[in-house]
Amino acid sequence: MLTRSLAGGPDAGDFRVVDEALPEPADGECRVRHLYLSLDPYQRSAMAGRHRLGRGPLVAGDMPAAETLGQVLRSRHRGYREGDYVRHFGGWQEYALSTGERTERVDPALAPLSAWLGVLGMPGLTAWASAVELAAVQAGQTVLVSAALGPVGSLVGQLAIQRGATAVGIAGSDEKCAIVTGEFGFRACVNYRQEGFLERLRAALPDGADVYHDNVGGQLLADAFSVLKVNGTVILCGLMERYNDPAKSKSLDLALPIMKRAVMKGLVVSDFEHRRPVFEAAGAHFARLMRGENVGKALVVLGPEAAT
Ligand SMILES: NC(=O)c1ccc[n+]([C@@H]2O[C@H](COP(=O)([O-])OP(=O)(O)OC[C@H]3O[C@@H](n4cnc5c(N)ncnc54)[C@H](OP(=O)(O)O)[C@@H]3O)[C@@H](O)[C@H]2O)c1
Repeated sequence: MLTRSLAGGPDAGDFRVVDEALPEPADGECRVRHLYLSLDPYQRSAMAGRHRLGRGPLVAGDMPAAETLGQVLRSRHRGYREGDYVRHFGGWQEYALSTGERTERVDPALAPLSAWLGVLGMPGLTAWASAVELAAVQAGQTVLVSAALGPVGSLVGQLAIQRGATAVGIAGSDEKCAIVTGEFGFRACVNYRQEGFLERLRAALPDGADVYHDNVGGQLLADAFSVLKVNGTVILCGLMERYNDPAKSKSLDLALPIMKRAVMKGLVVSDFEHRRPVFEAAGAHFARLMRGENVGKALVVLGPEAAT
C-alpha cells in the first residue's frame, strides 16, 4: 500500500507491505493467488487520479491498481474452477477476489504464464495496435521507436521488422541500446542522454523515418520531427516525460507536424480490446510454430471468415 500521496517520481519509501486476513469468496466470486503483477507506466497517472483505470488520487493506505496473473484457489463462481489461470485487475497484492469482471482465463499450454501480461497482454496489444492497425507498417519502411527497450517499444520494432520494415530505436543508455540492436534486431539505436543526440539520430536515419512510435512526448517528440519524412506518420502512444509531473511538460510546436504534412494518430489500447482474439491468436500460434507444434502452414485468419 502507499505510505503517502505521491509527489513527483516515486521511491521505495512511498510503499510498504501490510498483512491482512485472506479474503473469503462470497457466492459468485473466486479467490485468486497472484503469480505475476504487472508494473506499467499508466499506474503512476492512476495513483495521481489522472487515469481512467485509477480510483485516485490515492492517499496513504490505498492499494495501487494493477493487472495480475494468478491461479484460482477457491471458487464460488460458475465460470471459474479451482486451478484455472486467470488475468484480472487484482491490484498490488498477493491474493484478490474476482467477481469475473475483467477476468479472463488463460491457457498455460499456449505460452509461459508471464507472457499473458507482456507480449500477449496489454503491452503486446498496444504494440500490435500501433504497428499493425494504426501505422500499418509496410515492407521497406523505416520505423523509429522511443523507449525502445520497454515492452511496448521493443515489440513495435519487432513487429515492424517482421513486416519487412527496418526499426531504429531511441533509448536512455548504451547498455539498453546494445540490447535493442543485439537482441531485438533494430538496425540502430541512439542514446538520447548522450551529447550530440540530434546529430547521431540524423546519422542513424539518413533517409528519414516513415513512422515514429512515440512513447515519451516532450522534447523527444519534437526531435523526432527532424528525422520524420514528409507525409510521415506519428503514433502518439505515451507521455513518459510528464507522468511524474505534468506541469513540467513541454507542448509541441505545431509548426513541426505542419511542415512535415504529418499524420498523427493517438492510440488508446482499450479501443483494440475487441481485436484481442486476433492479436492473441497470432502470438500464441507463433509460439506453437516455434516449438514445432504446427503441422503444415500456420495462418491466422484476419478476413471476414474470422470468428471475431
Ligand atoms: N496509449 C496506450 O493505450 C498505452 C498502452 C500501454 C502503454 N502506453 C505507454 O507506452 C509507453 C511505454 O510503455 P512500457 O510499458 O513499454 O514502458 P517502459 O518502456 O517499460 O518504461 C518506460 C520507459 O520510458 C523511458 N523514458 C523516456 N523518457 C522518460 C522520462 N522522462 N522519464 C521516465 N522514463 C522515460 C525509459 O526508458 P529509456 O531510459 O530508454 O528512455 C523508461 O524505461 C508509456 O508511455 C506507456 O504509458 C500507452
